[in-house]
Amino acid sequence: MTEIGKVGIVGLGAMGAGIAQLSVEAGVETVGREVTAELGEQARDRIGHFLTRKVEKGVLEAAARDAAMSRLTLTTELEELGGCDLVIEAIVEELEPKRDLFAELDRIVSPEAVLATNTSALSVTEIAAATSRPERVVGMHFFNPAPLMPLVEIVRAELTEDEPFDAAFAFGERIGKTPIRCFDTPGFVVNRVLIPLLNDCIRVLDESRVSPEDLDKGLKHGAGWPMGPCALVDLVGIDVHVHASEALYEKTREQRMAPPARLVAMRNAGLLGRKSGRGFYRYDD
Ligand code: 3HC
Repeated sequence: MTEIGKVGIVGLGAMGAGIAQLSVEAGVETVGREVTAELGEQARDRIGHFLTRKVEKGVLEAAARDAAMSRLTLTTELEELGGCDLVIEAIVEELEPKRDLFAELDRIVSPEAVLATNTSALSVTEIAAATSRPERVVGMHFFNPAPLMPLVEIVRAELTEDEPFDAAFAFGERIGKTPIRCFDTPGFVVNRVLIPLLNDCIRVLDESRVSPEDLDKGLKHGAGWPMGPCALVDLVGIDVHVHASEALYEKTREQRMAPPARLVAMRNAGLLGRKSGRGFYRYDD
């Protein structure tokens, strides 16, 4: 099976930075690529912040944090991912930019390397088709926040072969996640269930005239959710959730997949949740 000595992460937003954090903590040399040096530094700061919090809480040695941080290299040049055995893509959730990126990565990294996408609602098979090695392309779908959520879905596209699939699964375990095997069907496993469920929750806001606070209390205290649906959509990002809903609706034509009007209006108004400082709730930090 492919030995994963060095990993590349393309896109160091909330998801990419979280994945990079997991990788360096697990002792893996990691190259993170962002489009500007400034965005790369922001990701480094974010990772440093969360690792320092672990040190302050006594769950990580300061020396282990420093060693983890030293395993992270930043670059703006895709060519610098040339020596990676696995590259995980976490860029904008749109098909064409992802296909363009995979076509470039295909040219840059060794033919034996595994290419993975963190897409949540696009087709891994369509992304893989942009390369000359679709058999070595998989989905590795992490959940937000990646360092805290145990699951990673390992997605087998139409042409994925066993060996790269198993290598991605083993890497998921190595970075401390609980991987599950799934196929390239719309929403894979969790989003196929979670997206329409969250959409139902938001529609209930209007139908039952309950407040977001009370709806969240309802699902937390009546159904044992760790956080309520409004807080969760704020965490995921209202733009991200609307986009995933649209993508799944396009594929399944199931009415429950379509984004609720309230969320579309919030997205259009720039209320994106935590990342914009305001969604269903306001955030100061
Ligand atoms: N990255 C790294 N570390 C983080 C972090 C992040 N984004 N957010 C928090 N942490 C660290 C912090 O250091 C924090 O401690 P601090 O506040 O003292 O500094 C520490 O983790 C613990 O954080 P919390 O106290 O907030 O942890 P909780 O025990 O409250 O759990 C939770 C937080 C894990 C988010 C929990 O509320 C939960 O499980 N919520 C549900 C999340 C969920 O369902 N996610 C899936 C979304 S769907 C999705 O991602 C699919 C996609 O395709 C759309």
